[in-house]
Amino acid sequence: SNEEGDALYALRMRLSDPNGVLQSWDPTLVNPCTWFHVTCDTASRVVRLDLGNSNVSGSIGPELSRLVNLQYLYVPLR
Ligand SMILES: *[C@@H]1O[C@H](CO)[C@@H](O)[C@H](O)[C@H]1NC(C)=O
Repeated sequence: SNEEGDALYALRMRLSDPNGVLQSWDPTLVNPCTWFHVTCDTASRVVRLDLGNSNVSGSIGPELSRLVNLQYLYVPLR
């Protein structure tokens, strides 16, 4: 995937995902725009990451700073 996909995939690796809601986060795709919970703009840049209602837990890390076009982030942490 591209730089933003790589960053998101690195984030996925940090998280516990008991219900498999991040299984669509496939790093072999050219960009992460079809991944569930990820929204891109018309230029295929990640602008929104919403992990609400997903039961995902864990800690976020420096990966998020690589999502330079992000406008909305919702990651409930436990
Ligand atoms: C989150 O976990 C609860 C309790 O196990 C379950 O009922 C619910 O379906 C899960 N949510 C998702 C999005 O998988």
